[in-house]
Amino acid sequence: EKAGFDHFMMKEIHEQPKAYRDTMGSRIDASGRKVVLNEVKLTAEQLRDVNQIHIVACGTAYHAGLIGKNVIERLARIPVETDVASEYRYRSPIITKNTLVIVVSQSGETADTLAALREAKRNGARVLAITNVVGSSVAREADDVIVTWAGPEIAVASTKAYTSQLIAFYLFGLYLAQTLGTQDEAYIAEVIDAIKLLPEQVEYILGQAEAVKQVAEQVATHEDLFFIGRGMDYAVALEGSLKLKEISYIHSEAYAAGELKHGTLALIEDGIPVIALATQHDLFEKTVSNIKEVKARGAYVFGIHSAGEDELKKSVDQTLEIPKTLPLLTPALSVVPLQLLAYYASLARGNDVDKPRNLAKSVTVE
Ligand code: F6R
Repeated sequence: EKAGFDHFMMKEIHEQPKAYRDTMGSRIDASGRKVVLNEVKLTAEQLRDVNQIHIVACGTAYHAGLIGKNVIERLARIPVETDVASEYRYRSPIITKNTLVIVVSQSGETADTLAALREAKRNGARVLAITNVVGSSVAREADDVIVTWAGPEIAVASTKAYTSQLIAFYLFGLYLAQTLGTQDEAYIAEVIDAIKLLPEQVEYILGQAEAVKQVAEQVATHEDLFFIGRGMDYAVALEGSLKLKEISYIHSEAYAAGELKHGTLALIEDGIPVIALATQHDLFEKTVSNIKEVKARGAYVFGIHSAGEDELKKSVDQTLEIPKTLPLLTPALSVVPLQLLAYYASLARGNDVDKPRNLAKSVTVE
């Protein structure tokens, strides 16, 4: 049942190329220039009336929502707020009939996410669900559903569900852009072409697992570490940090790289590992300068960068290169080494990788 892998988590990490392909599947038309979302019943007129989007979710799905915010704002120029469901539902959010609420949930059964969905509907918003389970509570109660075709996810630590949620956001962002006319056709086609390359690019990263394992074995000897990045790299850093904490029980913190000098830099001591994401071309120099700040304080830095930007090698102790893609799409690649890092660190510590202590796969209590 684990298809030759030692753990479900590793099997599911390796199923990502297929999950990407299945999630894009028939949603890209034959010409390769258009996204088709037949399941979304929202009309063009209704979409034109949307003046704000709220993305609501928990845990890893919330982290996918942080990427979703970046994607939708860049592609469709609609203001987006991403919120944790257990916060959103109690803070009396400003929801109107022109608000589109997107709930993200692998299981479709998370109590707080479901309650947030109901709160949104009570306030007259239209709700779109991104979920992995057809027929789940979230899927049944939402007005529209985009199913992520990741297949069943057994390991408690979410991997392929998260990345499939990213694919769903890319497709929905493009769909909005195409419907609202916020991006020209040539650019939309360029993004689609790049999305189609992601599965084989993930395969390439999986081929580098051994290099990540070495870093993980070193990380596993520490009790504290940091993940840093800017922009979408920061959102990926949050997910990498959660994954590591969840299964290795090593404390880590994700920091927006530019925020370090506003406090946390004091915690960087000799030898402390810092996982630095520098995949965003426009932010590369800025992130490198933050990396130099932590290096100067003795940190051991593992840097993840895009192909062609290997100047990073000069500033860090160890690097991993991800294949070249559009800046918008790097999260679908850069999270993979972080999943592997968490997996191997958990393994090195002798933990139960698939069933971390105190956690349940589906949180149906509030
Ligand atoms: C982390 C993890 C959790 C879930 C969260 C939401 O690896 O799996 O943080 O992402 O409990 O679950 P769903 O997506 O089922 O609503």
